[in-house]
Amino acid sequence: MELRAAIASTKLGFDDVIASFPAAIKSRRGERVIEGAFAARARLEDNTVGYDTIAAAGSHACILHWTKNDGAVRPGELLLLDAGIERESYYTADITRTLPVSGKFTEEQKMVYEAVLEAADAAFKIVRPGITFNEVHAAAMEVIAAKVAEWGLIPVSAEESLSGLQYHRRYMVHGTSHHLGLDVHDCAQARREFYHDGEVKEGMVFTIEPGLYFQPDDTTVPENLRGIGVRIEDDILVTANGAENLSAGIPRTVAEVEKWLAS
Ligand code: GLY
Ligand code: MN
Ligand code: MN
Repeated sequence: MELRAAIASTKLGFDDVIASFPAAIKSRRGERVIEGAFAARARLEDNTVGYDTIAAAGSHACILHWTKNDGAVRPGELLLLDAGIERESYYTADITRTLPVSGKFTEEQKMVYEAVLEAADAAFKIVRPGITFNEVHAAAMEVIAAKVAEWGLIPVSAEESLSGLQYHRRYMVHGTSHHLGLDVHDCAQARREFYHDGEVKEGMVFTIEPGLYFQPDDTTVPENLRGIGVRIEDDILVTANGAENLSAGIPRTVAEVEKWLAS
C-alpha cells in the first residue's frame, strides 16, 4: 500500500532529523535545520513533503501549525515534529513525534508525554468497523480530562468537564482524528454524516493525534509545566475486526524514543 511506503520514508526522514540535532542546536534557526533535513529526505526518497513541516521547539509546540520554523532548538527542551512524506502517487503520511532534544525526557515532560500516549492508545483501542468517528475523539478526551483533573488544572471533575463546560479543551484545542490518503486532511469537505458522525469502515485510514499544550503564560498551569507541548500522531488502518497502527514502527513510548535518540 502506498501509505505504508510513505510512512516508511517518513521514518527515514525522522531519523535524519535526529541526526541533525547537533547542527540544529548550533544554529540560530535550528528549527529550519530540522525542516531542511526532513525536506531533503522527502525529495530524495519520494515526491516531496505532504504538507508544511511543523518543527516546533520548546513552547513553539503550543502554537498549532507552527510552520514558520525560525526558532532556536535548545538542549533540554522538546521538539514537536509533525511531518509526512508524500509519494509520487501523492499519498502522504502524517506523523507527529515529540522528542527530547538532549535525548532524555525530564520528569515533567515525561508525565505530559505519557498522558498523551495513554490518550492515543485509548483511542486506538476502540477502533473497529461500526463505531463512529466521534467515538475515537471521545475516547482520547476521557484520558485528557482525567489527567488534567488529576493534576488539579481544572476546577471541576473530569466527568463534569466532559459532560459540561469542557475545561480540559483549554489544553487540547484540536480534533483527535482526520481521514488521510491523497490529501493530508482527506475528504475534509465531506458532510458531517459521512465524517464526524459517520461510521468507521474497513479500509479507512485516519490519524489519531491527541496532544496537550501548556502555553508559556497560562497561569492555570503550574510553572514547571508551562511551555510544554506534546502531540503524538499515528496513521491508523481500520481492519475487518479492529485496527492496525501503520506507524507503530516509529518509536512512541518514552523508553523507545530515548533509545532511538541514543542510537
Ligand atoms: N499536519 C497537520 C495535521 O496533523 O493535521
Ligand atoms: Mn494530522
Ligand atoms: Mn500532522
